[in-house]
Amino acid sequence: MAADVPPTTQSFINTVTGDKLDLDTSLPDGRQTPAVKEFLQTGRDPYEEVPSCFPNGKSLFLTACSGCHGGEMEGKVGPSLSDDYWTYPVNTTDVGLFSTIFGGANGMMGPHNQDLTLDQILRVMAWIRHHFSGPASHATWLTAEQQKQFKPFTAADEAAIKQSTDPAACKL
Ligand code: HEM
Ligand code: CA
Repeated sequence: MAADVPPTTQSFINTVTGDKLDLDTSLPDGRQTPAVKEFLQTGRDPYEEVPSCFPNGKSLFLTACSGCHGGEMEGKVGPSLSDDYWTYPVNTTDVGLFSTIFGGANGMMGPHNQDLTLDQILRVMAWIRHHFSGPASHATWLTAEQQKQFKPFTAADEAAIKQSTDPAACKL
């Protein structure tokens, strides 16, 4: 039997319709990780700005998202995910971004609840957040401390974090 989805204090709604999202429609794996438990309580993605988690997040992004959003998130069929503009301002919160990925938006942006686990969605989100190219003060999903440290992604950065895409390499 699949492990239950941990309790949450957050409210997850479809980005377009506002309908309640049912986290029980997530894949059976990856529900009970420390990161998922923490996210469901705090509404913050604990993988953000944790370099050991970037390679796995990147590999998941390349499989599930880059075909439409571009390998560097520059935008293709889908919009850029690295610039300082959001069609849906709710995506400036981690709960909002999670909801867009889990439940989808319009047209080609389908729900990803059946191809990424809850934990994998958080890893992809951390990779997306790390590509934010606007001013750090607009990265309101980060803590004040993280905003101070935040440096937008560069190619050099990518070389420095080139390590195993093994999910187990990601350590909080
Ligand atoms: C919109 C993320 C996969 C096509 C979006 C938005 C996000 C997102 C956050 C909203 C952006 C905003 O508010 O400005 C992702 C992630 C993916 C993924 C993380 C992989 C897990 C895909 C795929 C396609 C696609 C595979 C094409 C088949 C689109 C389109 C939009 C969009 C067309 C605009 C939808 C609208 O405005 O309602 N995506 N996406 N995405 N995405 Fe994706
Ligand atoms: Ca954008």
